[in-house]
Order: sequence, then C-alpha cells, then structure tokens
Amino acid sequence: MLKVGFIGWRGMVGSVLMERMRDEGDFGSYEAVFFTTSQTGQPGPDVGAGAKPLENAMDLDKLAEMDIILSCQGGDYTTAVYEKLRSRWQGYWIDAASTLRMKDDAIIVLDPVNREVIDKGLVDGVKNYVGGNCTVSLMLMALGGLFENNLVEWATSMTYQSASGAGAKNMRELLTQMGELQGEVKDLLANPSSAILDIDKAVTAKLNDGTLTTDNWGAPLAASLLPWIDVAVADGQTREEWKGIAETNKILGNSAQAENIVPIDGQCVRVGSMRCHSQAFTIKLKKALPLEEIERIIGEHNPWVQVIANEREATCCELTPAKVSGTLNIPVGRIRHMNMGPEYLTAFTVGDQLLWGAAEPVRRMLNIVLQ
Ligand code: HSE
Repeated sequence: MLKVGFIGWRGMVGSVLMERMRDEGDFGSYEAVFFTTSQTGQPGPDVGAGAKPLENAMDLDKLAEMDIILSCQGGDYTTAVYEKLRSRWQGYWIDAASTLRMKDDAIIVLDPVNREVIDKGLVDGVKNYVGGNCTVSLMLMALGGLFENNLVEWATSMTYQSASGAGAKNMRELLTQMGELQGEVKDLLANPSSAILDIDKAVTAKLNDGTLTTDNWGAPLAASLLPWIDVAVADGQTREEWKGIAETNKILGNSAQAENIVPIDGQCVRVGSMRCHSQAFTIKLKKALPLEEIERIIGEHNPWVQVIANEREATCCELTPAKVSGTLNIPVGRIRHMNMGPEYLTAFTVGDQLLWGAAEPVRRMLNIVLQ
C-alpha cells in the first residue's frame, strides 16, 4: 500500500485541505501518515484507520519511507527539509508553499487549467508539484477560457485581497480592529440623532492615534486598506505583483519561449474581506469578439466558473466575498467592452483564497498522482 505523508495538516490551509479530503472521501486507498513539528507521539487524526501516533516532521528517515509527501507546513519547513530529503529520496513532493514554485524541476499545479502540463510532467518524471499563488490560481480559474483560446494579448489584475492570505493571526486582528473601531463610537451609533461627521472624526482619530491593534498588519486595515502585499522586488513592483506574470506563464507552460509570455501586471491591495480574493481585470484581447461569445468562452472553461449577469442585483448578490466564502465557486461578472476599443475587456472575479487559492489544487494533485 502506498504511503502518503501529511505535514502542516493542522494549520489554516491544512485544515481546509483535511475538510475537503474528508468531504470527498479521499482517504482510504493508501496509508496516510501524519507528521508534526511539535507533538511527536501524540495521537494523530483518525481518517478511517484509527488514530496513530504523529511522526516527527524533521525525521528524514521517516519522511523517506513515504511514496508521496503533501506539505501545507509553509515555506520555512520546505526550505529546512526539502533539499536534504531530496538528495536521498525519489518520491513525489506536493507543496502548498511557494519555495519551489519557480524551480525548473517543479510544476505549478492547477489541473482545470494545466492538466496537460501536469500529465507531461508525470510522464517526464517530474517529482515536485506545487500549488500556485492564490491570486494567480483564482485569476486562471476565472479567465482560463480566454487563455486556453489564446485570446489574451495582455492583462492587468487589480486585486482586493483578503486577510486570510496573510494568515490566521491577521484574520483575527482584522476583526479585533473592527471591534475596536465600533467600540470607539458605540454610544454615538446608538443615538440615531448623532452627527455622522462626529462618528467619522472619532473613527479617524482611532485609526491614527496609534492605539488600534496592529501587531500583525503593522497598520490599520479595518475601515482602510493596504496597497502593498509581500516584499519589494524590482522597479517598484511587489513580489505578489511579480507572481502575476511569472506564475501565470509557468502554469500555462509558456515560460520556455519569450515570445509566448503573456504580459500580466497590476497592483495588489489588501482589503478587509475574510477569505476571498477579488480581482478587477483589464484585458487586451488579440481580436475583438462579441460579448456573448466571450461569456460563453469564459463560462464553459471549467465546472466552477460562473458568468454573472452584468446588472446590479445579480452582481451584488453573487459576485461578493460574502457569497463566495467557503465555496469552490468562481463567479466572473462585470464583463463588458471598454471605452478604449473593441479589443479591451473588463471583468471582475471573486474566489475563496483557501480553497482554489490554496488547498484544492494540491488536494487534486494528490489524487492525480494516485491515479
Ligand atoms: N500571497 C497571498 C496573499 C497569499 O498575501 O494574499 C498566498 O498565495
């Protein structure tokens, strides 16, 4: 029986992965071995074969017994363990962290978009399969039809990224900030005749007086936004923005030839939503097409994408983080031609950062390796 080792299964992405695997009945056809970085020997989860003691995630001998390892433990763990293990181990390494994404011997997995690239990798003996950046994966799930039909000359993605992308502590801190702001104006809010400008003044004062909890964000996010995600790379671009072009083209299998690279750029912005990233696109198409055809191409690409009618009620009902959170749905709406010309298209999408943005591509990749 094949052995699959799971690392980081208790963190936020790992917990979403476990929930999805249980929902889909994924456990059972192999021996699941659960590792820990801190609680070796304690009982692991029961996924159908009884709870077994947790193994030490730093024990290379034990890791090397696995046929497949799936890690949601994060980049530091991958950095600490992967090279040492790989020098003596030929198994499949499936990872949600970004560490290995751009390596030549790794494939970024998003099988509804790049199943051909994945299948070729398996045939060619590639052993490393890494989940993509959440914004990139969610963009490609939404616009996969346009890319598949080679219709995109270039695209910008302006993002509205959720707190979950920064981690569990950041999600908690967002809510703490919201509570602190509300607490500041509780009495004024309770009085219907209080002046809104007094409320606003008190909120603005609280946002700026240094007393709001900002240990994780480093600045107020609630009632505000943060137009910077991750570190600077070059020319004023952030790493999150750089991933747009780098990862998209690698996922699509374009990276080998410069003339195939589709330019993608934009600004990545953190907003106060919980776990759904949203993106507004400007797309320069290679040719002008009627809107109905564009909507058909987008909507037929995969079973999760849904074209939302470009009208107010459907948009505010279906195309929001509140609606999409916790689901695999990828709504795409606000689709229209732009004033700049018939080849210019705009669209808006929302997707769950922890599902298609993190856990689902690696869950599906494990099943593909096991097939
Ligand atoms: N870098 C992403 C974000 C999450 O900060 O939202 C991981 O893909």
